Amino acid sequence: MYNTPMLKDGSLKDKVIVVTGGGTGLGRAMGSYFLKLGAKLVISSRKIDVLRKAADEMVAENGSEVLPVQCDVRNYDEVENMLKQAVKHFGKVDVLLNNAAGNFICPTERLSNRAFDTVIDIVLKGTSNCTLAFGKHWIATKQTNSTILNIVTTYSWTGSSFVVPSAAAKAGVLAITRSLAVEWAKYGIRSNAIAPGPFPTKGAWDRLLPGNIKDKFELEKNVPLKRVGEMQELANIAAYLVSDYSAYVNGEVITIDGGEWLKGAGQMNFLESLTQENWDELQKIMMQKKNESSE
Ligand code: HXC
Ligand code: NAP
Repeated sequence: MYNTPMLKDGSLKDKVIVVTGGGTGLGRAMGSYFLKLGAKLVISSRKIDVLRKAADEMVAENGSEVLPVQCDVRNYDEVENMLKQAVKHFGKVDVLLNNAAGNFICPTERLSNRAFDTVIDIVLKGTSNCTLAFGKHWIATKQTNSTILNIVTTYSWTGSSFVVPSAAAKAGVLAITRSLAVEWAKYGIRSNAIAPGPFPTKGAWDRLLPGNIKDKFELEKNVPLKRVGEMQELANIAAYLVSDYSAYVNGEVITIDGGEWLKGAGQMNFLESLTQENWDELQKIMMQKKNESSE
């Protein structure tokens, strides 16, 4: 049920899509679906061996073309080179998917300033580097119908303890998304974001739930729908947002988290722990009080 592809074949035909962090996890899952829909792909990250292996496997599974390009998004020169390689190989780029990220859990007072910088540099500066390079290119070449899709999190707007550099950086990415949706619309560039809830990937899970804390906290329990996300569900939204079906969607952030963040936000949500018997008892008391006051 959750693994059914949403868009019809050919929905992304001939679109050239660059996915940063595209060799692993969510980036790879979204990229694989784009390929199935007819897109051509550039996947980039720091580890070229991982990228080459992923590219070979993705082509074997889905056909079409995947170009692996080594690029540390923290370095503007490397980002410009990635764009150059993409244009040289495919003749153009239509979509930038800012998916690369770095993160780990740590009490903030234990972080070194370098640790803080590292996460900000990958997530915020990495996104701004790619956005700036691609945006300048699209504007200079007068290419319209281009799209930027940014992967943020729900703590982009709630904030979160123990991942403060990531929360600050993702909040910045969301601000870039909304700001450029307006500023660059005149150039035919749309900007949108997706905020995923828990989607188990090795990269995120090893860093956010290291050691035996995996066994202590069951993330599913915090999700009203009582499950984690399936890759295809996320890929469906991503494919829609980079396709022409979403041509009028601009500046939007789509949350896909089973209701997780709202559960943490609603002031009375703690009542979830009450049993039916507790509710029977409480309602009896409330009705009794109501009857007494109306007598
Ligand atoms: C405290 C840490 C640390 C940790 C690293 N540092 N890990 N400090 N706790 N667990 C510190 C180091 O001591 C160093 O500071 C500084 O950070 C840089 O560390 P390096 O290892 O040199 O950095 P680098 O090799 O660039 O690696 C970046 C990284 C790493 C972020 C630290 O984890 C990485 O490569 N991550 C990429 C993939 C990833 O994180 N994926 C998960 C995305 S999940 P000093 O001062 O000692 O020099 C995600 C989920 C969102 O974003 C929300 C989910 C709900
Ligand atoms: P992941 O597999 O660790 O993905 C992170 C990717 O970023 C890796 O491919 C990594 O490749 C790349 N990367 C890291 N630093 C980089 C740099 N400096 N330059 C270029 N690439 C770099 O984790 P994931 O779970 O799939 O995360 C993907 C995205 O989803 C992230 O934006 C994350 O914040 C977001 N997200 C995930 C979840 C979740 O539950 N999984 C929830 C909310 C949001 P290299 O190491 O080869 O560079």
